[in-house]
Amino acid sequence: MDIKFLLSGLQLVFVSAAVASQVEVLTDGWEFSHDGGHWEMVSVPHDWAIAGPFDKEIDKQSVAIKEDGETKASEKTGRTGALPWIGDGIYRHTFDFTNDFSSASVVFSGAMSEAQVFWDGAKVGEWKNGYTSFGVKLPDASAGRHILEVRCHNREQSSRWYPGAGLYRPVYLVLDESDAEERVFARPEKRALLPRIEVNEKGFFVNGERAKFRGVCLHHDLGSIGAEWNASAFRRQLRLLKEIGVNAIRTSHNQPNPELLDICDEEGVYVMAESFDSWKRAKVANGYNLWYKDWWKRDLEQLVKVCRDHPSVVMYSLGNEIAESVCPEGPRMLKEMQDYLHALDPSRPCTMGHNRPLRAAQNGVNTIQDIAGANYHVFEYEATRAFARNGVLLGTETSSAISSRGFYRFPDDVRKYRNSPYGDGQVSSYDTDEIDWSNLADDDLAAQEDFDWTLGQFVWTGFDYLGEPSPYNLYWPSRSSYFGIYDLAGLPKDRAWLYRSVWRKDVRTLHILPHWTWPGREGLVTPVYAYTDAPEAELFVNGVSQGRIKKDASSRLDRFRLRWRRVRYEPGEVRVVAYYGDGTRLEEKVRTAGAPAALRLSIDRPHIGLREFDATAELAYVTVEVVDAEGTLCPDAALPVSFAVEGDAAVFKGVCNGDATSLEVFTDPKMLTSHGALVATFAAQKPGVAKLRVSAPKLPEEEVLLRVGD
Ligand code: GAL
Repeated sequence: MDIKFLLSGLQLVFVSAAVASQVEVLTDGWEFSHDGGHWEMVSVPHDWAIAGPFDKEIDKQSVAIKEDGETKASEKTGRTGALPWIGDGIYRHTFDFTNDFSSASVVFSGAMSEAQVFWDGAKVGEWKNGYTSFGVKLPDASAGRHILEVRCHNREQSSRWYPGAGLYRPVYLVLDESDAEERVFARPEKRALLPRIEVNEKGFFVNGERAKFRGVCLHHDLGSIGAEWNASAFRRQLRLLKEIGVNAIRTSHNQPNPELLDICDEEGVYVMAESFDSWKRAKVANGYNLWYKDWWKRDLEQLVKVCRDHPSVVMYSLGNEIAESVCPEGPRMLKEMQDYLHALDPSRPCTMGHNRPLRAAQNGVNTIQDIAGANYHVFEYEATRAFARNGVLLGTETSSAISSRGFYRFPDDVRKYRNSPYGDGQVSSYDTDEIDWSNLADDDLAAQEDFDWTLGQFVWTGFDYLGEPSPYNLYWPSRSSYFGIYDLAGLPKDRAWLYRSVWRKDVRTLHILPHWTWPGREGLVTPVYAYTDAPEAELFVNGVSQGRIKKDASSRLDRFRLRWRRVRYEPGEVRVVAYYGDGTRLEEKVRTAGAPAALRLSIDRPHIGLREFDATAELAYVTVEVVDAEGTLCPDAALPVSFAVEGDAAVFKGVCNGDATSLEVFTDPKMLTSHGALVATFAAQKPGVAKLRVSAPKLPEEEVLLRVGD
């Protein structure tokens, strides 16, 4: 590679000007092959599996999921997303150095997985864990042609969710620098901003101020683009999360990439940086258990290198639901790991997510770890925290509530179940469906309010993710989760307003559910709920009052919700008037929809830049809704929508309708709407204006303009 080319290359904002010429993000010019025979050109970050097709047979696992309390093996389909991520992937990049360099290294923000790195045919490095950021020194940086090759290998049964595949995070070339990782991971300019953290019996303090976490757990995949890292896609996630009052994320269950942390720093979102989903004892046959013994120290070292300069990182997690925590060896292992981590970074506390928090506490872990963590078991919090070093407790993972956007089941009673409860792959958006080990969002919201000694919670999860389709692990087709507050497309489920109504004190919230288009339900009981911060409200159906009701703090389901459970359906209009204590009111309406008449488009950002700070393409998201002649969403519409782009300023990137049972691939520019909506993603390509055209049979074509660059 020519140094001149480097100078004209992409500028990295996070390396100081003095060294910018020596760090290049390797985006283009990669060749990719599965077998070394057929090669194609790709850009990196790249997830080789996201284009599908979905296949029930991929990573079909006959297992008992012990963490879910199963004792007998059963056949799990879709557990890891049913996309073709298993197998080998080879990436190759050719460089022509026109002069000698004193040194050269490649730095990976993560490579999925078991990456082996070759330089001019000789192996120069490797990393097992697909989430770890790592660097490899290249032995020869002299003028001439060089070939970099990276081989990734993904084993079956190596994950509990969709891990993605290949060079799914940025790759950097660093020249003339002896410590290349430092160049890519370090953020010296941010060091002065690092928080001072203290955890004591009064809570979690950041720079002297008490922080209570309104957090969510996030997997690393980003909807329709899969595991491919993209700064714009992650920024959108944070925007949506902040809209409902989220102030923290947990990178579950793995190491965050440095680019993600830059964005959290910028957005002022706290991060719990997690390390592992298992130690030595296995959760899946070929998981991290294969590598733990030889690699845990190296992986923790890298985690700290990546995190330590980021003000957003306020704690580490040494693991999620680690089997050893209730075994005799657990406390010793935990102490060794925590001491090791503290030696690397004495400034931040460590926690862990325990799925048997009381048993783990009785086993001695709470007297060791800085912050006692509990996954679920909200009803055992009191007993568990009695063992904690400082008497405080963090809901490291909470709720695991499930719902499918736009889908409602009658009656609306609370139902607890384990597997394939119904034959349709859907769960109810009345937010009353629970899985065995989970509880309703309301339970955790209550615990957080009632117990001052809780440090907050991290809800499972902010967004739906690929894989782990509980409670439909045994049902096909189902290939993504139901836990998200937002669906896989990033569209809010009703629950988003429930959290918003409690978490955001600066805005008013009023949201009505369900939709009001129920042909065939005339005269049948069709409960109506309002998620609002107001203490009371009145419901009208076609102008007739159904009663003015108040929240009831003593009731599990009426503390945060207002529910009119005896309403009988008649087409028309439901209207809720919410009353605030100060005499003000807020009103919302939902109407019965007529036949689909139009496509309504909304674009999240009509003007985007070309590339993000880490060279990933900027993205724009277009939400498409099928509406009737009055503009009411048609909540049952499943219409085939197609996309076309005019002009070369942008390209179609992916589309998702949020339906966990859909087998349409994300990378084709067409998809059925699910409950009347979907979201398409477009990537910036060149400065200019692109016309994004959207069509569906029998409806007028619609378009929206996207401006790229200045
Ligand atoms: C937890 C686990 C998560 C996810 C979740 C589903 O026990 O930590 O990774 O599996 O359950 O409810």
